[in-house]
Amino acid sequence: MDKLICIPDFEQAASKILTSNAYEYYKSGADDESTLSDNKQAYQRWLIKPRVLRDVSSRKLVSTVLDGKVNFPVGVSPSAMQKLAHPEGELGMVRAVEQSGSIYILSTNSTCSIEEVAKAAPAARKWFQLYVFKDRSVSVGLVKRAEAAGFEALVLTVDAPLFGRRRANIRNRFALPSHLKLANFPSEGFNTSDKGSALSNLDKIMDQSVTWDDFKWLQSFDDICSITKLPIVLKGIMSPEDAKMALAYGANAIFVSNHGGRQLDTVFATLDALPAIVKEVAGRCDVYVDGGISTGSDVFKALALGATMVFIGRPALWGLSVSGQVGAKRVLEILRDELDLTMALSGISDVKEIDSQYVIRSSLL
Ligand code: LAC
Repeated sequence: MDKLICIPDFEQAASKILTSNAYEYYKSGADDESTLSDNKQAYQRWLIKPRVLRDVSSRKLVSTVLDGKVNFPVGVSPSAMQKLAHPEGELGMVRAVEQSGSIYILSTNSTCSIEEVAKAAPAARKWFQLYVFKDRSVSVGLVKRAEAAGFEALVLTVDAPLFGRRRANIRNRFALPSHLKLANFPSEGFNTSDKGSALSNLDKIMDQSVTWDDFKWLQSFDDICSITKLPIVLKGIMSPEDAKMALAYGANAIFVSNHGGRQLDTVFATLDALPAIVKEVAGRCDVYVDGGISTGSDVFKALALGATMVFIGRPALWGLSVSGQVGAKRVLEILRDELDLTMALSGISDVKEIDSQYVIRSSLL
């Protein structure tokens, strides 16, 4: 692993280790994968404008996110079925985050259960990603379990009433190998041996009729009986109009995401969506972003355009694939070190100082 010094090295190594079923499941975007590549290219459309002759001999990357501390503002986005990457699965990933002092978002569709993840890394900051299922009692049950297990926030994914069409999954008849299962649903009938339909099974049980009122339901249930007191992050917001709605409906934070380009193809890049959303939010809550980040300078640019913190999906999975917890931790370290160096070379000694004066849109040059 010592030879792997950047995120693309980890992807390359992972591509050789994983089965094509697993590698292509993680790697794919929807349809022509235009958004998948544009998420990345958007970072090339912004350039860094450094300042010089400032004392950068000591640098601080510590930040405050949803009222808690992170050692550096790069967390791990929810991604499903992490045992496809490595036998340690979600347990390796959450332990890597615990050691790094960041935030781990556990997917509802995980191959280790909520309780196993909580037990594996009690000191890690953990958030739980949620879908609204047709059978509301399933969603409520997950929320209660996450709350009881010490997860500190819910991340409600709002961009997936149905799953996007990822061609490789259709070609591979993507399925969880028989020794793995969706661990949060031991008896719900969510696990089926029906090969080739791992995601279409989920499609059938997800509620496509969800509206803003259902978000209200999740927060309050009714005046007497509240489902959860946990803060709720809305993940999948791509427009300032929806950011405004999210705030009006009481979201505690906004997560700019297009699901890693896996849902609606040709939707614009998350970095391009970010500035207008940050403007609309105007400091009233945290704004997070994911999609296309693979270097510390990408992290720097997202922070400069107003993100409170960034999250990574695939890069962390490549790390996990290569060497479990150790590999995932190394990927986080690389991004931390690259961000630190980018700050130093840009004349910045505190991550909180990164703002829009340090970037310029390349077409303006
Ligand atoms: C996916 C879902 C499960 O993108 O989030 O595959």
